[in-house]
Amino acid sequence: MNKKLEQYILDHSTPEDPVLEDLFRQTHIQFVNPNMVTGHLQGKLLEFISRMVNPEMILEIGTFTGYSAICLAKGLKSGGKLFTIEINDELREFSSSFFQRAGFENTIVQITGKAQDVIPGMDSRFDLVYIDGDKREYTEYYNIIIRKTRPGGFIIVDNILWGEKVLDNNTKDPQTLGIIEFNEMIKNMDDIEKVMLPVRDGIMLIRKTA
Ligand SMILES: C[S@@+](CC[C@H](N)C(=O)[O-])C[C@H]1O[C@@H](n2cnc3c(N)ncnc32)[C@H](O)[C@@H]1O
Repeated sequence: MNKKLEQYILDHSTPEDPVLEDLFRQTHIQFVNPNMVTGHLQGKLLEFISRMVNPEMILEIGTFTGYSAICLAKGLKSGGKLFTIEINDELREFSSSFFQRAGFENTIVQITGKAQDVIPGMDSRFDLVYIDGDKREYTEYYNIIIRKTRPGGFIIVDNILWGEKVLDNNTKDPQTLGIIEFNEMIKNMDDIEKVMLPVRDGIMLIRKTA
């Protein structure tokens, strides 16, 4: 996005929470691939959606350093829980320290493991699910989480435009192919409602209707 326009948007949005600002900064100092972290605008949008849905149970695939988990947890009903799954066990201590700083140490439940192995064994039904793991696995995640989403529940999916690479019909890039496969699957499903938002790298909102 045009830098001037981005600054205008930031100037007219609520400023970033200081804990999230530090999380973002520390992620850039301490980790490789810091660009995976959710930024302020998308984080604020996630927070707004969560506050509007006011869920009791949230599931997240792909914690990374914990930015989106904190944003989503802000909208939980009192006593609600957010389960976040991360395959990389080296990230746990860092994200846990920020969950504590944000006051969510008893609200956010961290699970270390592969989402596809963990979720089938979970008893809970979720009001809101956020998919932000490995782009090659989106279709797999969806087919697992849809059974765990309550009717009327919402699913938010990140990176569904993948830097506009979804428009390249000749791509051989596995991540782009993963996103294209996912988007086509969703397009052809009629037991859900969906809308794509051109925010950051593209966000899909899905509502399970039945
Ligand atoms: C784009 S990052 C998530 C960013 C995060 N939501 C945030 O707000 O900063 C994707 C994360 O998904 C994790 N991941 C990849 N495959 C996974 C899987 N099968 N199960 C759980 N986590 C996975 C990666 O290790 C990585 O940390």
